[in-house]
Amino acid sequence: MKPDFKGLDMLHGCDYNPEQWLDMPEILEQDIACMKKANINCVSVGIFSWACLEPEEGVYRLGWLAEIVDRLYKNGIYTILGTPSGARPVWLAKKYPEVLRVAPDMTRNLMGARHNHCFTSPVYRRKVYEVNAMLAKTLGNHPGVILWHISNEYSGACFCPLCQAEFRIWLKNKYKSLENLNKAWWTAFWSHRYTDWSQIEAPVPKGEMDVHGLTLDWNRFVTDRTVDFMKNEIAALRENGSQLPVTTNLMEFHYSLNYFKFKDIIDIVSWDSYPMWHLPAGGDAAMGARTACCHDLMRSIKKDRPFLLMESTPSMTNWFPVSKLKKPGMHMLSSMQAIAHGADSVQYFQWRKSRGGSEKFHGAVVSHDCRDDTRVFKDVAEVGERLKKLGGLCGSLPQAKAAIFFDWENRWAIQETKGPRNAGMHYEKTVIAQYRAFWEMGLPVDFVDMESDLTGYSLIAAPMLYMYRSGVEKKLRAFVENGGVLVGSFFQGLVNETDLCFLGDAPHGLTDVYGLRVEEIDALYDEESNSMNWNGKEYALSLLCERVRPSAADTLAVYSRDFYAGEAVLCANSFGKGRAYYLAAGAEQDFYSDFFRYIAESLGLEKALSAQLPQGVSASRRIADKPVAIVQNFNAETAVVQLNSEMQDYESGEIYTAAIELAPYEVKFVKEYEKN
Ligand code: GLA
Ligand code: ZN
Repeated sequence: MKPDFKGLDMLHGCDYNPEQWLDMPEILEQDIACMKKANINCVSVGIFSWACLEPEEGVYRLGWLAEIVDRLYKNGIYTILGTPSGARPVWLAKKYPEVLRVAPDMTRNLMGARHNHCFTSPVYRRKVYEVNAMLAKTLGNHPGVILWHISNEYSGACFCPLCQAEFRIWLKNKYKSLENLNKAWWTAFWSHRYTDWSQIEAPVPKGEMDVHGLTLDWNRFVTDRTVDFMKNEIAALRENGSQLPVTTNLMEFHYSLNYFKFKDIIDIVSWDSYPMWHLPAGGDAAMGARTACCHDLMRSIKKDRPFLLMESTPSMTNWFPVSKLKKPGMHMLSSMQAIAHGADSVQYFQWRKSRGGSEKFHGAVVSHDCRDDTRVFKDVAEVGERLKKLGGLCGSLPQAKAAIFFDWENRWAIQETKGPRNAGMHYEKTVIAQYRAFWEMGLPVDFVDMESDLTGYSLIAAPMLYMYRSGVEKKLRAFVENGGVLVGSFFQGLVNETDLCFLGDAPHGLTDVYGLRVEEIDALYDEESNSMNWNGKEYALSLLCERVRPSAADTLAVYSRDFYAGEAVLCANSFGKGRAYYLAAGAEQDFYSDFFRYIAESLGLEKALSAQLPQGVSASRRIADKPVAIVQNFNAETAVVQLNSEMQDYESGEIYTAAIELAPYEVKFVKEYEKN
């Protein structure tokens, strides 16, 4: 679905902070002239402007902002309008200390930093509502404004008494009685039974961290609280006459919020991507795969429409341990990578480097030299030029037939449970490693969580689905029964949604589907490994080694070492019209790559490009009227992709008969060549 951005196709924009330069009109003038030169067609304004919008309580000054939005519009630059709740003015924090966040040690933060506010405080909610309402009334119907950008990178939790009281209400709604809660949380353990709702406190290091149902419910509550806070922000816009779409900028695998719960609240997903390109060892392919994974995860939150790349750096960050420049070509590649995975924009943090503050050395389109002839500026202008020609892809999606599970609640459960490897369970790493197999093949893939609808997929990977909730076992059973191929891997189907172990054989409810049961789980030290031989190749195993007892499943590979040498580690079972594979141990990247390639090829799943991709090269696709494959070279060397059929360059029209050659970090858009 194509979002309505007042006729704009691909957005090319940046965070713009004119409030830092109001006393330097010549800078603001230069900004607009340079933005045009850099092919910028939209800017995100006002995200950190509260102190300028409301310098004193109830005294609103929106004139400067309206003037800037007007001027931008007259110059063909559209505005994405921020709401300023991410950082409150000093006067507000000083007058109403309750708006400040309380830390897990139960002390209230002082004024400082951003994202330092309570999500419950009625004062904060009211103040945010009021300033948002003013913005909506003043600019919510301005022809130059295309989108609301509410707040900034929602994150974290507040432990104040108001939040804790809300938590108790949330629990009462969920459990109805304390008896139900005590059962669901297994509080008989260590005599932690609650006899009054008022006794329940948020999980904090100094207090209760061993009731896993409590920690899980607190995490769910924090997401719900944030969503509720967002609803208040959005209500202020809607109730004051603005119907513009709403987004908020997300942060890929951010731990504290289940982003899938945002899908019905925001109209468009957007996110901030800051990959650590050019790490000293190993090249950029691993980071390319990881970043692609984040793009696909973010896109999957709202599957029916593209997302926006809200922030990325045009050069470097200032917050990595070591902030490296993007090497020539990388800016184009990383920008087009977002487009390749379903973004309808490339946007940056930030337009102009600030003179002071902690981000003065963060990359920007315009640096302190105020020049528009730098390498970075030219790189940015080039991306804008290219985006102008890619408008035909707006609104299109990859239309994946494969999916991988990534479930935030499962992640919290794995992270917070005790054993079998408190030295790190590596859930995200395992998900990313399995994803990388798809990335290497150029096979379009979505992410799903346990609440997702699984229809339409032919292949589903379910790594480390420790928790089964929302009837996922029934969905997986139906999926396989109806002809789907499921690849489940270790640490699977052990607990329910409050982290209570299922009684009976594991994986819970799916032992007949997998044709096996898991009896024991051995954990490995980081320096230990086991191995297996599959299809004539030896693969290292790590993390966890489960001892499985196949019933109906065929054994495809066995452990080579330890007292369980010779026992099954990789199994396959036919069930209904489909097939379920089970991998009982953590495997090395090569195995995931080879194994998923074997499965995808045996299923005949369509890749973005019908070709064997060389190492470090990936392809993804967008299906507008016809599929377009976006071929990306993450190598610092030239790569050649041998083609199975003739292709044509989507941009230049050039015909590739046998191969596509990609310069270091080059990206090409190609489509099938149709002879007239
Ligand atoms: C985040 C924030 C921005 C800025 C950048 C710097 O994504 O949203 O305000 O701080 O990081 O990389
Ligand atoms: Zn609070």
